[in-house]
Amino acid sequence: MAQSQFKGFAGIAIRGEMRGDPDDPLVILVHGGGQTRDIWNETASALARAGRQVIAIDLRGHGESEWPADGRYDFGAYVEDLRAVLAQLPSRPVIVGASLGGWVAAAAIGEDGAHLASGLILADAPPDLDLTNIRKAAGTLRAASETAKGAWDPRMLERFQLEEALNRFKAAAPNIQMPVLFVRGALSDVTDAASASRIVEQIPGAEYAEIGDAGHVLAADRSDLFSATLLDFLERRVPRFVPEYRSGSDARTLREALGCFATGVTVVTAFERPSGEPVGLTANSFTSVSLDPPLLLVCIAKTSNSLKALEEAEHFAVNVLHIGQQPASRIFSRPGEERFQQTPWKRGRHDAPLLSNALANFECRRHQIHDGGDHVILVGEVLRANFDPRRDPLLYFRGKYRRLHFS
Ligand SMILES: Cc1cc2nc3c(=O)[nH]c(=O)nc-3n(C[C@H](O)[C@H](O)[C@H](O)COP(=O)(O)O)c2cc1C
Repeated sequence: MAQSQFKGFAGIAIRGEMRGDPDDPLVILVHGGGQTRDIWNETASALARAGRQVIAIDLRGHGESEWPADGRYDFGAYVEDLRAVLAQLPSRPVIVGASLGGWVAAAAIGEDGAHLASGLILADAPPDLDLTNIRKAAGTLRAASETAKGAWDPRMLERFQLEEALNRFKAAAPNIQMPVLFVRGALSDVTDAASASRIVEQIPGAEYAEIGDAGHVLAADRSDLFSATLLDFLERRVPRFVPEYRSGSDARTLREALGCFATGVTVVTAFERPSGEPVGLTANSFTSVSLDPPLLLVCIAKTSNSLKALEEAEHFAVNVLHIGQQPASRIFSRPGEERFQQTPWKRGRHDAPLLSNALANFECRRHQIHDGGDHVILVGEVLRANFDPRRDPLLYFRGKYRRLHFS
């Protein structure tokens, strides 16, 4: 078991405890209000034994995490803490959030944080709360804080805005796009079955499970059943073993493996002969080949309608797109678009069409054409290149357009 420390919102210290093999896929455990990470002891051990690396954190004002001097215990501060912790992890974890921890996790990833996690398990996180119940719970918590001798900061009770938490939880729910499991304790007096199934319907593809014989604090009440439910879900929806391609097996896995190589995006252009019409297509198979002589290549599918013109043209151009040119990338990758009517371009010095304001333009003379399976490898000698140092690239990774994040 190793201690770990993270920087939360505005730099506050968030403490965690790590178990399991750092090479295993990561699960992060976020406790409920008025608890500490100790609540997860048995669950964390079970997950680590089943081949998951586990980090259990203390929320701000709880356990060993910092108790902020300014008393900031509003919901937004918890959400920002979790986002900050997630951004410091080496891989995207599955988050298990109990009660308050579940609201925080749902808001952190539903409000524009999809890239921060690979799955979400909500443990008895009620989407609605009867105020009399919460007063009861607050009374119990206050009494607990007195007996637990400082396990959490009682100022939290005054500062926390329950309504904001519930509203943000419910608003974020439909935007969560990853495997989600909602687990409810069948005896929970905080989360009723009807409101739980309503929120599950709101989250695309979410699963629902109920644990008999357990109340609101699942991990303490029936950690054995709770862990088994988590592991069943994890094995099915976020499996430990990553997909593998073997020669002859499915092309989709191969494509996904190749998609792990992040690239820029180009549009390859030429004039068709003899019509003189410009042709072009989006291509990310661009590679620099040689500096002396100056060579580059792109791979063009044998099914491409532009292939014949590109093979026959003596000159072609590779236009590297900037972040604002995603529309051009779309237009040049879809059939039936008036590609050059929708995109500003001009004739280059070496008889190839150049997209205006590209991040870079490479004007090439056709050097060699090689067979490349279902593609043709088009090698060009660079006659002229220009680029704009003030722009950022459009990126493509795992089948999606991306932008650079500077940190
Ligand atoms: C990001 C991205 C990268 C692409 N890279 C290539 C590529 O390297 N080679 C290729 O032949 N097609 C590539 N395509 C697909 C073509 O752009 C697409 O099939 C296009 O419709 C071909 O046009 P054409 O048939 O008019 O030549 C890519 C598409 C996208 C969205």
